[in-house]
Amino acid sequence: MWLIYLAMKFTYYGHACFSVEAGGKTLLFDPFITPNPLAKEINADKIAADFILVSHGHGDHNADLIDIAKRTGATVIAPYEVGCWFEEKGVKNVQSMNHGGAAQTDFGRVKLTSAIHSSSMPDGSYGGNPCGFLVESSDGNFYYSGDTALTYDMKLIGEGTKLNFAIFPIGDFFTMGIQDALRAAEFLGVSKFVGVHYDTFPPIKLDHGAALAAARTAGKELLLPTIGETIVV
Ligand code: NI
Ligand code: MN
Repeated sequence: MWLIYLAMKFTYYGHACFSVEAGGKTLLFDPFITPNPLAKEINADKIAADFILVSHGHGDHNADLIDIAKRTGATVIAPYEVGCWFEEKGVKNVQSMNHGGAAQTDFGRVKLTSAIHSSSMPDGSYGGNPCGFLVESSDGNFYYSGDTALTYDMKLIGEGTKLNFAIFPIGDFFTMGIQDALRAAEFLGVSKFVGVHYDTFPPIKLDHGAALAAARTAGKELLLPTIGETIVV
């Protein structure tokens, strides 16, 4: 029997911004670079993107979206109200979707999943409901929960799709903390996940050693790439 090892390149840009190479395309998630002092070494004008996936309306997930979308011509995939808001701001190629809906794309299949959070736009206007993304590609499958609480619904995702890895917020306070992220990993049946959404603001400062130890105890691999680092997952 042949064992085919699928792997994807993951690059961290700080906070909850990262890119994944999947299906021959570069997928950029939740672009928030220039307002983040921890990401000052990252030049947002150099970041590549074929697709930009944005999970909700909060500015810490889309502050650089308009500039990067205009420069790259990337297709923006977003929850309906978020997508419409960016279209009004002049962003072209917006694919506004809604929860539970999937679409075939140039990189594979993407499905919007539920997230428990809030989603006002940077100007305070209505941003609909926040989402996560399930991506299935020829290079493998992964799930980014977006900003969310732990939900039992995550079990459904793991039951329906074999995942190579996941990406969860672990900073607590606004989202899941490490203990709930470890339960999410269990629900999804993933052995490894990347932690995001920590250290950027004082309330989400993370004790890295304690988080890594908690993951080891739970038998999970917690990946914490440094900002600007590319890892293979
Ligand atoms: Ni948020
Ligand atoms: Mn956030």
